[in-house]
Amino acid sequence: MDNLTLKADAFDADDFIALWNSVWGGAPSREQVSLALEHSIFRIGVYDGEQIVAMARMIGDLGMCYYIKDVVVRPEYQGRGIGRMLMDALLKYIRENGVSGTDIAVELCAMPDKMPFYEKFGFRANEARRLRLMYRAE
Ligand SMILES: CC(C)(COP(=O)(O)OP(=O)(O)OC[C@H]1O[C@@H](n2cnc3c(N)ncnc32)[C@H](O)[C@@H]1OP(=O)(O)O)[C@@H](O)C(=O)NCCC(=O)NCCS
Repeated sequence: MDNLTLKADAFDADDFIALWNSVWGGAPSREQVSLALEHSIFRIGVYDGEQIVAMARMIGDLGMCYYIKDVVVRPEYQGRGIGRMLMDALLKYIRENGVSGTDIAVELCAMPDKMPFYEKFGFRANEARRLRLMYRAE
């Protein structure tokens, strides 16, 4: 049986890149990832012993909007409830740190085949579409 533990704000850019590449390949540059982690509100990792096997992070303005990003479970660890551990930790963070007594928009972007996973936590799609431009920095 796995010895799984959760650690907040612990994983680094190398962990992120390894996990990203385990599911998608073509990870962003180390400099981009380091900055992104530094400016994330909260990040959560799941560890099997010393090895990180899953991650997620949250960005936002701490007031009106929290945005969930980069929810990844290593392929060989999927389907064991680890994605649920990540989502529970992210939502707990908002519950405990959001402006007390207010309703807060929690958003994310999901591919169609991942929608049923997020629906389990109460997320619902609306008619809005995601617009994206990959814009080159000089
Ligand atoms: C999506 C992902 C994070 C799910 O993690 P996981 O550890 O496999 O999910 P869990 O085992 O915690 O599943 C939790 C529940 O969601 C369900 N579920 C998980 N993935 C699902 C899917 N693709 N479609 C339908 N249901 C799904 C499980 O059956 C389980 O249901 P239950 O609690 O009623 O038994 C994981 O598959 C992953 O990392 N995929 C690759 C990266 C990715 O695409 N991330 C999402 C970016 S939008």
